[in-house]
Amino acid sequence: MNDDVDRIMAVMSAAFDPVFGEAWNRRQVEDALAFGTCHYALVDPAGVPFVDGGNAAGFFMSRTGYEEEELLLLAVDPQYRRRGLGRSLLDTLRTGASGRGARRLLLEMRRGNPAESLYRGFGFYSIGERREYYRTPGGERLDAVTFACDIS
Ligand SMILES: CC(C)(COP(=O)(O)OP(=O)(O)OC[C@H]1O[C@@H](n2cnc3c(N)ncnc32)[C@H](O)[C@@H]1OP(=O)(O)O)[C@@H](O)C(=O)NCCC(=O)NCCS
Repeated sequence: MNDDVDRIMAVMSAAFDPVFGEAWNRRQVEDALAFGTCHYALVDPAGVPFVDGGNAAGFFMSRTGYEEEELLLLAVDPQYRRRGLGRSLLDTLRTGASGRGARRLLLEMRRGNPAESLYRGFGFYSIGERREYYRTPGGERLDAVTFACDIS
């Protein structure tokens, strides 16, 4: 588990633009994973589920609730993007969440994140917004958009 937290943190620091302040710190990741309701998966550069001993190129973290699973974080190292790894991680999330009894996936994203194309292509649709919900480290207020994806 500790090694996987190292891998998650390595991808996290490479993937998230510090301008938006979206990356989690190690303590936040460890605390989330300490709960039985949080799940994660790593993917290797070839887009297959990570096997110990190789490089991790991306990960997701999610949290299971009643008949719903929320995507908390999704990230792919910039050097491995646009090869289908993000999509592969969403496939893994859907399969896992379905096995845990979820009927839909949820996520929240800052408006304008290019990840929206990936999410919409996967089947997510917008269900609401929170105006000026996020505050960047520079003090800018950004809207949040909530998406859902039915999986059963
Ligand atoms: C969002 C992210 C995970 C996508 O990872 P990825 O491995 O590059 O995604 P995929 O290769 O699976 O993309 C699949 C499709 O989604 C769409 N897509 C993905 N990234 C896109 C982008 N930056 N701009 C436009 N469309 C994009 C495209 O349709 C793409 O298919 P194509 O490459 O054939 O055109 C990655 O860009 C990332 O880590 N971003 C920073 C972290 C972040 O913002 N995460 C989401 C919020 S938690």
